[in-house]
Amino acid sequence: MADEKNRVYIFDTTLRDGEQALQQSLSPKQKLQIAMILDQLGVDIIEAGFPISSPGDFESVRDIARVLKNATCCGLSRALDADIDACRDALKESEHYRIHTFIATSDIHVKDKLRRSFDDIVAMADRAVRRARNYTDDVEFSCEDAGRTPIDHLCRMVETAIAAGATTVNIPDTVGYTLPYEFGNIIKTLFNRVPNIDKARISVHCHNDLGMATANSLTAVQEGARQIECCVNGLGERAGNCSLEEVVMTMKLRGQYMGGVYTNIECTNIARASQVVSGVTNEPVPSHKAIVGSNAFAHSSGIHQDGVLKNKNTYEILTPESVGFTENNMHMTARSGRHMIRAVLDKMGYKEGTYDLDDIYQRFLKLADRKGQIFDYDLEALLFFSHDQEEETQFTLDNLSVISGGKNVIPTASVRLKIGKRTRMESSTGNGPVDAVFNCITRLTGIRLKLDHFCILAKGAGTNAQGQVDVDVVYEGRHYNGKGLSTDVIEASALALISACNSIYRAQIIEEEKCEEKMEA
Ligand code: KIV
Ligand code: ZN
Repeated sequence: MADEKNRVYIFDTTLRDGEQALQQSLSPKQKLQIAMILDQLGVDIIEAGFPISSPGDFESVRDIARVLKNATCCGLSRALDADIDACRDALKESEHYRIHTFIATSDIHVKDKLRRSFDDIVAMADRAVRRARNYTDDVEFSCEDAGRTPIDHLCRMVETAIAAGATTVNIPDTVGYTLPYEFGNIIKTLFNRVPNIDKARISVHCHNDLGMATANSLTAVQEGARQIECCVNGLGERAGNCSLEEVVMTMKLRGQYMGGVYTNIECTNIARASQVVSGVTNEPVPSHKAIVGSNAFAHSSGIHQDGVLKNKNTYEILTPESVGFTENNMHMTARSGRHMIRAVLDKMGYKEGTYDLDDIYQRFLKLADRKGQIFDYDLEALLFFSHDQEEETQFTLDNLSVISGGKNVIPTASVRLKIGKRTRMESSTGNGPVDAVFNCITRLTGIRLKLDHFCILAKGAGTNAQGQVDVDVVYEGRHYNGKGLSTDVIEASALALISACNSIYRAQIIEEEKCEEKMEA
């Protein structure tokens, strides 16, 4: 029987700390997609966003709070009344929720960033926690930059927050500066010196600037911390946050040597969570990344291969299956029926009713005609992309042809677009096939945008992969992004740009409607 006192809670902040580090912010729908995967993964708390920071963040925290089945939804707030109230407003529809409020405690932050006295900071923290406790009995307080906070100050702050009603107190190594023994000593000292420490759960939140995030978090657990804040694939500010898969699998494999600690994560869902987060955020997982990299379970050298063939345990401490990497054994082709698609999606955790089966099936058939065999990651990609297509589109790709080649060929493209009810065609040259296609599209749509960022990734393995293109464009000072997915990378590029143009078009319509409303008022 697992002993509850050894349970380490997993607080996932992929959607908050992880997301804030991305070049392009995620849409509320993309965040919802990640939240659903995290919920299936069994994380205990999902930090869904920072509601006061933007209407989009508020909306996605609210939407996520509505759909979570197992995890507690949490919103971040500074130690300010308006922030805490925004969290409450975004989360109030869920039965149980957490408000996470924070303030910086290190000398450099208190003096140079906040420009206040430490006494003021303590008073603000006390007030913030009490206000949050009026709304929910699950309140987390974080001492930002705790890793560089003088220990007397830290003890005083932790004691104050707990006395004010914080049920979790988080000790972040915000700048990833401490060494494992130092960070462990901070946690040990808090347990020795803070008189009311047993009234709250102690959490840690380690950044990875020196590559210490996993070691620091686990050292803290050995000193009594019972919550780890982390992100899937180690996403996060600068060098990232502590990686969820690393701490979870270390406790799974070595927990008995750490006093019997364990988590409630469904480890066989880790590979999928990693792939979905990487796909949605467009942040590739390095091949050598521990636990989830494509090489994490590959044996290359002859000596290693020979050893593994004789006895797997010679070089393999974990099996790929233990984190959910399995050989794909579903043969989906254009002959597969609708119920097969539903069954595969169901196995992946997508319940009927959360997606449009007819839409997915029609697009599945088109893809299967082009690609032959379809894998589960293709199906999942269709699912993500179906969300984009829920909105009305002004521009749709009707046809595309491209000529490109070696030195003596001038890349030339012809693009036919459906624009509203009409169809128009343009041809153009460019400095490459994608450039030629983009020239056609900008002429056809009449939208004079600037391409800020272009990224192409292979989704799936080998020559069977599909190309996913993400673009970030700037139009009249605002950023818009678009995604395209196809077995043909030029088509994926065209689709990505067209999807960005559709977003610009929709934004213009909304603006016009607002202007009309104002004129009428
Ligand atoms: O790194 C940090 O200190 C944070 C806090 C807001 C918890 O992200
Ligand atoms: Zn952080």
